Amino acid sequence: MRRYSAMPEQGALTIVRRSSSRSKAESCPTPTDEQLDSLDLDTEHLPAVDTPDACDKAALRLRYLLRQLNRGEISAETLQKNLQYAAKVLEAVYIDETKPAVARQQSAPTLVFRRLADEDDELSEVQPDAVPPEVREWLASTFTRQLATAKRKSDEKPKFRSVAHAIRAGIFVDRIYRRVTSTALMQFPQDVIRVLKTLDEWSFDVFALHEASGGAPVKYLGYELLNRYGMIHKFKVPPTTLENFLNRIEEGYCKFHNPYHNNLHAADVAQTVHYMLCQTGLMNWLSDLEIFATLVAAVVHDYEHTGTTNNFHVMSGSDTALLYNDRAVLENHHISAAFRLMRDEECNLLQNLSREEFREFRTLVIDMVLATDMSFHFQQLKNMRSLLSLAEPTVDKSKAASLILHCCDISHPAKRWDLHHRWTMSLLDEFFLQGDKERDLGLPFSPLCDRNNTLVAESQIGFIEFIVEPSMGVCADMLECILGPLHSSSKNSTSSAEPINEESTGTKDRNENSSKFKIRKPWVACLSDNKKIWKEQAAKDAEARAKQEEENNSVPPTTEE
Ligand code: CMP
Ligand code: MG
Ligand code: ZN
Repeated sequence: MRRYSAMPEQGALTIVRRSSSRSKAESCPTPTDEQLDSLDLDTEHLPAVDTPDACDKAALRLRYLLRQLNRGEISAETLQKNLQYAAKVLEAVYIDETKPAVARQQSAPTLVFRRLADEDDELSEVQPDAVPPEVREWLASTFTRQLATAKRKSDEKPKFRSVAHAIRAGIFVDRIYRRVTSTALMQFPQDVIRVLKTLDEWSFDVFALHEASGGAPVKYLGYELLNRYGMIHKFKVPPTTLENFLNRIEEGYCKFHNPYHNNLHAADVAQTVHYMLCQTGLMNWLSDLEIFATLVAAVVHDYEHTGTTNNFHVMSGSDTALLYNDRAVLENHHISAAFRLMRDEECNLLQNLSREEFREFRTLVIDMVLATDMSFHFQQLKNMRSLLSLAEPTVDKSKAASLILHCCDISHPAKRWDLHHRWTMSLLDEFFLQGDKERDLGLPFSPLCDRNNTLVAESQIGFIEFIVEPSMGVCADMLECILGPLHSSSKNSTSSAEPINEESTGTKDRNENSSKFKIRKPWVACLSDNKKIWKEQAAKDAEARAKQEEENNSVPPTTEE
């Protein structure tokens, strides 16, 4: 179990960060008034800054300083000295983080802080015999990478404009009909209208939309969503410009004829993002511009995908890998190409945004799409978990929207079996085509790409257990954390922020403010059903392999040699 306390490990003191698994009883409580009252602000006799005790002392002092500042009862000198001490403690943590692991282990008894985003950690918790080595190798090579070093600007505190949001939710339905009936808007075929009636459902059938729309699901779904959320009206998007933009995006998704990364996948992810926005109440927490950026990010997130992975781009030395220096190669391309498209005035959705709105929109889309790079997965989850484990988490809008998009991007294993199965077969087709290319180029097979040697069922069980389930878990925790306060304040107002509900779903309460707030989690049952089916399939496959091996062994050797 992870604790926020010192534990000896290999001759060094190890401080392991707080995590959400920590129980309330274990938590380092906010100091009481009595504790603060008895605090001595002397800075002469403090523990060394790189000791565990220093952390507690610094935290306590910061709390005290905050209280005294509020009361206006503190001298500048005391404030300065204590802040200096706290800064040094934090710097000691940072310095220790940056030391190589070996140096850290040898420097007993110095502090060893576990890296904030120690992604390998997640995989090291996977029992060695729980997954086949191929699957493990695939998980490690696809979903981990070196810790990013770039520091971001500190997160903006989210603002809860509960009443306004509640009212906005109330008029949402009304807005849908007003916009849809507007004559200036694109005409939808009857079949498309019929399929779109189920747009708000978790297991929406995007394949049916593809059929009904004559192969243009992005055009209709993209249009419908931007219209439903009032974006066309709010950001004065000329309807023909939107239509042109969506047509060109759809074309880009079809450019390489990929079995999986095509216009259907874009539409699927956009619809799933819509579910998260409207069915959890997330739309009430985001501004119009943030909703606009999130929907557009979902639509363009794999634009002009080549049907090959980042690893393939790097290993084959593609032009795109050269352009983006082997980092988030595809994701950089999706974003860059989509913004390039918007330079064409006929496709420029953003033509009526102010300069500030454009900058904010662009930053949001870039952040969200870059975060769909799977090598960022463990880091992203870990960062969010650490944040949610704090007593008063402040979740940044861009981080929240990025996690939502990432989860929606990998959500098909959490949909109904027929949908999930179809997606999996398409993805494997795509992986195998890449394997064929690798073979032709004399490159080693990427994991899951060798059509003659891939454990399909096992890989899917691994993907569900180690990637999708934890992602959906963190995503739900985050939603409950950020929407809880919004929900409790809207309950007190005249309008209720539908469709938030209080179904009990078995996860732990986060804080008093949101103790009763739970979102619906239709993915939980789907994940469990799908995993069960894959497990049955895996058992059958193993049996077939054993039988095949037996047959091979019983065949007498040929006399050719
Ligand atoms: P992309 O859509 O770019 O981002 C998410 C990635 O997750 C996706 O590409 C695939 O590489 C990977 N992915 C999605 N579904 C599965 C699956 N069922 N099995 C293995 N990998 C998957
Ligand atoms: Mg992608
Ligand atoms: Zn995708």
